[in-house]
Amino acid sequence: MKFNSASCQFAYWNGGRLRIANYLTRRTFSANPIALDVIGFFFTPATIEDALVEFRCYSPKSVATAILELIDAQLLLEYGSADWKRDRLVKSSWGPWLPEGGFHFMTKDTPYIPWDWPIREKIKALPPTPAPAQFKTIRGTHSIRLPLHEIGTDTFYKTLHARRTHREFGKGAVSLQKVSQLLQTTWGVQGYIEANVFGRLPYKTSPSGGARQPIEVYLLALRVDGLNRGIYHYQARDNRLARLPAKVDSRMAASFCADQPYFAGAAALFIMTAVFARTMWKYGTARAYRIVLLETGHLCQTFCLTATRIGLAPFSTAALKDSLIEKALGIDGISESVLYVAGVGLVADHSNAANLSATGSAS
Ligand SMILES: Cc1cc2nc3c(=O)[nH]c(=O)nc-3n(C[C@H](O)[C@H](O)[C@H](O)COP(=O)(O)O)c2cc1C
Repeated sequence: MKFNSASCQFAYWNGGRLRIANYLTRRTFSANPIALDVIGFFFTPATIEDALVEFRCYSPKSVATAILELIDAQLLLEYGSADWKRDRLVKSSWGPWLPEGGFHFMTKDTPYIPWDWPIREKIKALPPTPAPAQFKTIRGTHSIRLPLHEIGTDTFYKTLHARRTHREFGKGAVSLQKVSQLLQTTWGVQGYIEANVFGRLPYKTSPSGGARQPIEVYLLALRVDGLNRGIYHYQARDNRLARLPAKVDSRMAASFCADQPYFAGAAALFIMTAVFARTMWKYGTARAYRIVLLETGHLCQTFCLTATRIGLAPFSTAALKDSLIEKALGIDGISESVLYVAGVGLVADHSNAANLSATGSAS
C-alpha cells in the first residue's frame, strides 16, 4: 500500500511550536520538525517500507510511529483512496489560488454559538474589551454639513429605506410569480456583451468582476404556491428551474442556516454557490477570491431590495452548515462551494424586523 502527502497542508510556528494544518480536513497538529522531512518524502507516493529505508538513521519503531501518526492526522493519505482524490481535486481546481485559498476551506463548517444560549453566556464569548467605536472621526479636520436628502415619494429610495432583515414570517406561501421575479431580477441574464478575446459574456443586474458570473443559485422551495416542495437549480441562461433529487423536509431551512430557528418559518431559501473556475480562469491570483465573495454581496442586496419592493420579507445569513448544504445540492464543495444564503417569507402580521433582540450571535 502506498501513501502520499496531502497537498492541502501548510505549516507555521505558534508560540515556539511547529503546527501543521490540513486545510481541507480543518485539522491542525503540533509536530516535531522532523515530521516535515517525512511529509516531504511522501510527496512521491511510497510504502512504509520505502520510508524505513530512507530514514534508516532513525529507529524503525520511531519512524513507523511517526508515519502512523501522520496517517491518523490525514497529513499522509492512502494513494488512490477517496480522501486522496478529494485532496487532489482541491489541487487541480484551486491550483492558482493556493495556498492563500486554503482560507476558504479552513473557514467552512465553523461551529456557531447556539441561538438559545443565555445572554450571559453569549456575552462571555465576546472579548472583555469594550466594542470598538461605531463611527470614525478624523481629528483636526474641518467638516462641512451636507444638505439633507429627503426620501420623498421616489420608490427607489423608499425601497432602500424599507429593507430590513426579517426573522418572523407570515404563515402562508409566496407565489411562484414572486419567486420567479426574485430569481430573474437577481440572478437572471439581462443580456450579453461582446468582450473580444473573452467572447460573449452574460450580464445581470449586479456587477461581476470581468463579467465572469461565478455565482449559481439554488432554490429551496418550502412554501411556494405553484411549485412542489423541493430543491431546484436556477438555470440563469434560460430562466428555468431544474429539480434536484434531494429530499426536503420542513427542518431544512433552519438546519442549513446553522440551526437559527427563526429561518424555519421562511417560505424559500436562495442558496448561492460559486463555480470558482469561471473567475480563476481569467484571474490567476488569490486576490480574485475576494471578487467572488464581493459578488455574492451585490446579488444579495439586489435580492433583498427586490423582495422588499414586492412586499416580501427578506433576510440573509452567512451562518451556514456548508457541508450539509453541499451534500443536499449534490456539489463537491471544492470546485463549487456554498457561500451565502438569502431567503424570503411573507411579512409577519406584527413584523418586528427592526428589533435586533432576536438576532443570534452567529451574525
Ligand atoms: C454577510 C451577512 C451575514 C449575516 N448573517 C446573519 C445571520 O447569520 N443571522 C441573522 O439573523 N442575521 C444575519 N445577518 C443580518 C444582520 O444581522 C443585519 O443585516 C443587521 O442586524 C442589520 O439589520 P438590517 O438588515 O435590518 O438593516 C447578516 C448580514 C450580513 C450582511
